[in-house]
Amino acid sequence: MSAASTAHPSGERPAAPPSGSPPFAVLKFGGTSVQSPECWQTIERLVRERLAEGLRPIVVASAVAGISNELEALLAAAVEERHEPGLRRIEERHRALAAGLGVDADAVLAGDFATLRRVASGAALTGDSSPALQARVMALGELMSTRLGAAWLRARGLRPAWVDARELLVAEAPAGASERKRWLAAACDSDPDPALAARLAAADGDVVVTQGFIAGDGRGHTVLLGRGGSDTSAAVIAAKIGAARCEIWTDVPGLYSVDPRLLPTARILKRLAYDEALEITTSGAKVLHPSCIPPVARHGIPLHVRCLSRPEIEGTVVSAEAADAVAQVKAISVKKGVLLVTIDTPRMWQEAGFLAEAFAVFGRHGLSIDLVSTSQTNVTVSLDSAMNVLDTAALDAVLRELRRLGRVASIGPTAVVSLVGREIRSILHILGPALEALEDERIHLVSQAANDLNFTFVVDEEHADRLARTLHGQLFQHRKEDALLGPSWHELFEGQRADHVAGPKAWWRARREDLLAAAGGRTPLYVYDRPTLTAAAEDLRGLTAVDRVFYAVKANFNRDILRLFHGLGLGFECVSPGEVALVFDLFPELDPQRVLFTPNFAPRAEYAAALARGVHVTLDNLHPLEAWPDLFRGRDVLVRLDPGKGRGHHKHVKTAGAVSKFGVAPEQLDRLLELVAAAGARVVGLHAHTGSGILTPGNWEETARFLGGAAERFPDVRFLDLGGGLGIPEKPGQTRLDLAAVDANLRRVRQALPEGIELWLEPGRYLVATAGVLLASVTQIKDKSTVRYVGVDVGMNTLIRPALYGAYHEIVNLTRLDERPTEEVNVVGPICESGDTLGYERRLPACREGDVLLIGTAGAYGRAMSSEYNLRPPAAELLLD
Ligand code: LLP
Repeated sequence: MSAASTAHPSGERPAAPPSGSPPFAVLKFGGTSVQSPECWQTIERLVRERLAEGLRPIVVASAVAGISNELEALLAAAVEERHEPGLRRIEERHRALAAGLGVDADAVLAGDFATLRRVASGAALTGDSSPALQARVMALGELMSTRLGAAWLRARGLRPAWVDARELLVAEAPAGASERKRWLAAACDSDPDPALAARLAAADGDVVVTQGFIAGDGRGHTVLLGRGGSDTSAAVIAAKIGAARCEIWTDVPGLYSVDPRLLPTARILKRLAYDEALEITTSGAKVLHPSCIPPVARHGIPLHVRCLSRPEIEGTVVSAEAADAVAQVKAISVKKGVLLVTIDTPRMWQEAGFLAEAFAVFGRHGLSIDLVSTSQTNVTVSLDSAMNVLDTAALDAVLRELRRLGRVASIGPTAVVSLVGREIRSILHILGPALEALEDERIHLVSQAANDLNFTFVVDEEHADRLARTLHGQLFQHRKEDALLGPSWHELFEGQRADHVAGPKAWWRARREDLLAAAGGRTPLYVYDRPTLTAAAEDLRGLTAVDRVFYAVKANFNRDILRLFHGLGLGFECVSPGEVALVFDLFPELDPQRVLFTPNFAPRAEYAAALARGVHVTLDNLHPLEAWPDLFRGRDVLVRLDPGKGRGHHKHVKTAGAVSKFGVAPEQLDRLLELVAAAGARVVGLHAHTGSGILTPGNWEETARFLGGAAERFPDVRFLDLGGGLGIPEKPGQTRLDLAAVDANLRRVRQALPEGIELWLEPGRYLVATAGVLLASVTQIKDKSTVRYVGVDVGMNTLIRPALYGAYHEIVNLTRLDERPTEEVNVVGPICESGDTLGYERRLPACREGDVLLIGTAGAYGRAMSSEYNLRPPAAELLLD
């Protein structure tokens, strides 16, 4: 696309840049795209490229990733006079970025830091956390990131003009808008604004740097444009000044044919029409905020979605030119957390105004309806719970009112699975085979929009991912790269995996010959690599803020691995008498204080046995103290608390929060203290484990802060056990857990804790997952319908994670490691269930009977969870030195 092109066949003629001025290019950078010095290096390069193209770049930036949340929390904390730690974190984060950029933080940000302190102290004094104040505080995130960015660009020899976005954009409060909406989710029009264009053209410098997300209200106040508002800012500015294009730079390279986290064979969509992009973004994709599309659509401004860490990828271009006439499905989207409400009544038949009456009830309760289907006697509507912030009480109230109209039921959680594309109606007949995937699902609602851009099914939430995967396989698997479909996520990111974990630098590549030799006639076989196990243990022992690491035996109870970890000085976390017995069988001299017993809903006798052994015992419920106080008289115990928010790679492994069975809830602490006193026990440790497979470095810090707060009520507490859960990247594109950040965060928490309190971790996965691979032999190949199946001798009895959690394990053909992948296949096992599939749509070279396939990151919860289902014995194991 040439710089001067402003094609707008479907839109109004936009404002043009003042005559003689170069055309504008608006470049928006989200939070993850401004968070590091490397990000700003790329931004500098992009700005120079735009200048070389003869464009005038307008940089619109978000707050550094995570800072908007911090600022939001800060005000809430300030009202309770707990704002100091938050203030420190925000300052430290910006100081660290400034240091990385070689910018003097005090010179650039002192004013913003001071404002932030003043406002937080003010809120603490007055208790005011009004939406107006919130807007002012949150705006500081964007103001600070852009000031740092501008200072860096200047230091690099550019001439940035830093402009306050509150002077550029004036937001209108819609008539009757609530106070919150007026300050925190205001809207700007996208009318052409020649004065703004003239101002930006004349700004002194070669690149304008301004903020996303914030605007003025025309009376000198700050307002916010709502979450995702930076995308909107960029689009609105582009629309108002008639930019040649609007570029959204983010952490994924465009819109995809399906969520790549669901299916790595998801394809980049190279070009889309505005209405298609709007449809995709409103029906689940989170790459782009839907509200940024109408402003650019109105003026026919091309919108480019691109990835800052891979700027060479073209990404997605949304423009009027992409409105081709060919009917085809372009994407499959899944939106979860949807609730259906159905009303059955004979009254609908021939009665005027029934629907209006029903809809009015939802309207009165502030609930917006997404999909509707009606028949003579039934109306079913869907409510998007994320949008509607449904709580049970609100829903009950709605259902009660609706009962006056007929028989009412709610169904949920459900998910909306949509096929998005142009004129889908005309190709329904060729979708036949694809729709077979729906045969076994209970479809609650089908809807086809009159604009003919989507075809939607509502199914139970648990079936949605599988349905989307199957539909994607049937509709996209055989489509070649063309004007619409680009490469897959897998192809773009396969080479990008983190170091020893998987991918090109995985340990097993260098040990291929050993592995093939080991496999000979012995598959299925789990193989573990001693150097990788040792390196993982060293990683964790190197955490300076952590006093003790207990290996969670449940992840893998292989005796050689336990011996290795014992030798490396790790303790053991056990959840059953069997695990406790195993470690003492192997290490009879083991100090019982190196063993944790952390059972859940275990019988009395198990606690009694563990106490008799002298290991640390963790109570997970009040029941043991209530029912068996005599057991704990004079004893030291740990108590597991529920920190309120679970995390993890799948809902089955999120182990905190209101609906999890684990831990004592914070509101039960008073009762806990009474019971402990009555039993005459001492609580020497507090424990929390939020879940498993977590890649967010802040998780353990949050847990430590939570436990540290609770510990104030327990004078005897000496240890805080932060659980396990440290994740490892499994899928292409995932990044490693930043252990240095985990450590730095925990060091900060330690400073606030009383002297002498130890921090413990009890990880399983991190220590063993990447060190283990599972070797399988190809048994049979089969083509059926449109799918090629590669059968192997590993079934779900050997590795249940894909069937149980939809887990992704890398699969390569070890025999043909040097051959290029040429086929997309489903890798399946011999067990009599369709869920016995190890990988869907995997790219492999043509496989033959007898080839050895390697299944990666199989060291954790692989052999440990295997069974004899179908009377197929669990796989053998081997530790390579
Ligand atoms: N501590 C407690 C109290 C736990 O419940 C768990 C794991 C751990 C520590 C160790 O978590 P890790 O560091 O391994 O994430 N089978 C699932 C994982 C289940 C985890 C159960 N609890 C999977 O294959 O992903």
